[in-house]
Amino acid sequence: MKHTDIYDALNKEEFLGQELVVCGWVRTSRDSSQVSFLELSDGSSFTRLQIVIDKNALNVEPECLKLGASVCVSGKLVKAFKGDGVELNASAVALLGKCPAEYPIQKKRTTLEFLRTIPHLRLRTNTFAAVFRVRSVAAQAIHRFFAEKRFYYMNTPLITGSDCEGAGEMFRVTTQPWKTDFKSEEEYYKNDFFGVKAGLSVSGQLEGEVAATALGKIYTFGPSFRAENSNTTRHLAEFWHVEPEIAFAELPEIMQIAEEMLKYLIRAVLDECPEEMKFFDSFVEKGIIDKLEHVANSEFAVCDYTEAIEILKKEKDRFEFPVEWGCDLQSEHERYLTEVVYKRPVFVINYPKEIKSFYMLQNPDGKTVAAVDLLVPGIGEIIGGSQREADYDKLIAAMRARKMDISSYKQYLDLRLFGSVPHGGFGLGFERFVMYVTGMENIRDVILFPRSVKNIM
Ligand code: 4AD
Ligand code: MG
Repeated sequence: MKHTDIYDALNKEEFLGQELVVCGWVRTSRDSSQVSFLELSDGSSFTRLQIVIDKNALNVEPECLKLGASVCVSGKLVKAFKGDGVELNASAVALLGKCPAEYPIQKKRTTLEFLRTIPHLRLRTNTFAAVFRVRSVAAQAIHRFFAEKRFYYMNTPLITGSDCEGAGEMFRVTTQPWKTDFKSEEEYYKNDFFGVKAGLSVSGQLEGEVAATALGKIYTFGPSFRAENSNTTRHLAEFWHVEPEIAFAELPEIMQIAEEMLKYLIRAVLDECPEEMKFFDSFVEKGIIDKLEHVANSEFAVCDYTEAIEILKKEKDRFEFPVEWGCDLQSEHERYLTEVVYKRPVFVINYPKEIKSFYMLQNPDGKTVAAVDLLVPGIGEIIGGSQREADYDKLIAAMRARKMDISSYKQYLDLRLFGSVPHGGFGLGFERFVMYVTGMENIRDVILFPRSVKNIM
């Protein structure tokens, strides 16, 4: 259909005084004896276009005025009667699709919980439309950031035979039902599609390392899958994962890229989504714009895990989970560090090797690895990464200690055999980033169709 985007009608001066055709959904409608007013949204902008219908001059089918109806309007774009915007004086209004009164998106404020039950319609609300416009802008900024730094974009496999994080959180990929005549698990997998146990990848890192140790700097941006049974506001079974991997790099450079990337993305969202951000600031998280401006302009803190434990132990009565050197940091600990102690994003580095993955560089102390987590207020961990163990023998030893099946990591180990280099990278949970910049408190509200335990709507 030939028509003008409402965003352009509102923002491009060339359209003022012109005859236009616009399409959209009726978001509000008011009626008086002489005039009807419609606010129309086509998704292209946060602000809606006001349509003015002179009832003496134009007879409009009543269905066109109903909330949620889709219409196509022709008319002249003029300066608004009130305020300094523009409005469209309609000369024709055609109904595209009527919308019965059972339309679940009514004008009165509905709850996010209710909207979660209608994921196919919730994007027609201000909140969700704004979230997904921000999400799109952030995704494009990710590609721009890495392109400007000459990182190459890689697409790593989603179906994999090796478990990257080693925490037993893989979804299995199979075409074969279990039959009682299989004598062992091994026999079962042998008969399966790939002939071995296969699953959905929890991370593109292992293949990312393959690419980085040839192309130097790479990143991936795709879905990762985790079958973790955690029904929290920060976990999904399917999430989008940004994973740069950098050759000839040690932990400080990896942290520097992470900090630059986060600041770049925040800047892009603030600059490119001013209306959405004003909305989030007013209705979702008061002060979020100031918070993000502050983050974009200040240095992130750095704290050693051992130091973090000392800090947390002094306040141990505040926490549900005990704090001891060697324990994994719980969300409450992470949030205390970033929200109360540092009041800004903080990198926690050098974790005990027992609580981190096999591939992390073993520090000379023999107890810790060169891991890094970035914690941010309101969320906790938003990025996890490390320098990688580049020494063949040390890597094998770490795998043996974890009783891993070394034969299925031959390719990964070869990278340490043939021209091994110091390298590393990190993973940003894209939904956690979108939560952080919009102030949305539940990860299910920043992805189109959330997948989580017992939920695949
Ligand atoms: O800390 P994680 O598990 O690290 C890795 O997967 C590494 N292989 C990354 C790397 O070094 N290339 O995950 C990285 C990030 C987390 O910090 C978190 O933001 C996000 O991915 N994440 C999740 N987001 C939503 N739902 C889940 N279930 C997530 N699990 C991890
Ligand atoms: Mg992690």
